[in-house]
Amino acid sequence: MIRKEVLDSIKANVENENLVKHMLATEAIMRSLAKRLGEDEEEWGLTGLLHDIDMELTGGDMDSHSKLGADLARELGASEAMAHAILCHNETHGVPLETELDKALFCADPLTGLIIAAALVRPDKRLAGLEAGSVKKKFREKSFAAGVDRQQISLCSQIGVELDEFIELGLKAMKGIAADLGL
Ligand SMILES: [Fe+2]
Repeated sequence: MIRKEVLDSIKANVENENLVKHMLATEAIMRSLAKRLGEDEEEWGLTGLLHDIDMELTGGDMDSHSKLGADLARELGASEAMAHAILCHNETHGVPLETELDKALFCADPLTGLIIAAALVRPDKRLAGLEAGSVKKKFREKSFAAGVDRQQISLCSQIGVELDEFIELGLKAMKGIAADLGL
């Protein structure tokens, strides 16, 4: 798979810039996780990049979301392992998380939202000065970005990365693409 082709396809299917940024952020975290765990960085990164490609096409229909996404990913050349991770990141289908890649995508997805929310409440609204300790504190504040599923993020321990390290790794990864995220 060629990243540029994947990104072009995402841009053709997703108008909402924040959704594109969410997928870029997920990609960055997935690449870092893959590096940390000795997995395939390209495979994991592109899975993160692609995972919500169908969000607008399915128009909020959670019964279709990620089924279409997995099909679109396959058309773009994704492996079955990638398509499976994309399919099961939407719990609606009841497809169990089986592989490390499945679990990684599932826990990286909501972490992006927590980190973006933590950046946006800063006076400068930037990632640069945001510290991991602050994100960890926000994680424990249940009323902060209440839609972010903390339990889902915590599943990082199932791939051998404890929560504190996961938050540090995720923040660092997202800081690395801060310009692309407009943060
Ligand atoms: Fe997502």
